[in-house]
Amino acid sequence: MIRLKDVTKEYGKSASSVLALDDVSIDIMQGKFTVIIGQSGCGKSTLMNLVGAIDNVTKGTIIIDDKDITKMSRDHLAEYRNKHIGFIFQAFHLEPAYTVIDNVCLPLMISNVRKVIREKRGLEVLEMLGIEDKASVKSNNLSGGQKQRVAIARALVHNPEIILADEPTGNLDSKNGLEVMKILKEIAESGKTVIMVTHNPDHAKFGDVIVSMKDGKIESIVNNN
Ligand SMILES: Nc1ncnc2c1ncn2[C@@H]1O[C@H](COP(=O)(O)OP(=O)(O)O)[C@@H](O)[C@H]1O
Ligand SMILES: [Mg+2]
Repeated sequence: MIRLKDVTKEYGKSASSVLALDDVSIDIMQGKFTVIIGQSGCGKSTLMNLVGAIDNVTKGTIIIDDKDITKMSRDHLAEYRNKHIGFIFQAFHLEPAYTVIDNVCLPLMISNVRKVIREKRGLEVLEMLGIEDKASVKSNNLSGGQKQRVAIARALVHNPEIILADEPTGNLDSKNGLEVMKILKEIAESGKTVIMVTHNPDHAKFGDVIVSMKDGKIESIVNNN
């Protein structure tokens, strides 16, 4: 479980500071698909970035599997991130000049996994997503839908327990958007914790839990069964 307790995030100092998260507490269940909705600027990405340990809380604690990540050292946090978290972004964030397989295997390269082993695993994940035939294509030659599948493969390659997807369908047409939703749903059904931000009400319906945010606070948490 991911437990946020009294989490506040303030950007900047004093007079000009922005209160992005205002004393937020929530338990996010393991193996569930949690969807976060809310107007632009309400703090959705901030929450994702804190859970993903790419930013620090101003106040409060984030406990993941009994470990308080707000107390970890920088090195320990980087290790935690590389091991336990997979990120998926709206703009894909692929290396355009790299092949698909090299993009997918990047997290394993960072962890110093040997080339044969990482490429075997990379192909396995590409196969799961039905794009193994694209392994040696440069990623800038792919369509948007294909790029997001590659980004999903990259997020899964090191077998993290937590997948964070910040508006993953924001740059996709409705057909590809729906495909990505089905993939994320399956990932959650396989036992991973998936947290996704979306503006699309049709996509929000895929969530097991729908969290609605407003002005840095959680407005409601709805179980969607
Ligand atoms: N790095 C930053 N520096 C200053 N303000 C920021 C930063 N990131 C986000 N903010 C502000 O924090 C608030 C929440 O932003 P964000 O979490 O990105 O919202 P959302 O993802 O819901 O659109 C906004 O007012 C935004 O302008
Ligand atoms: Mg955002």
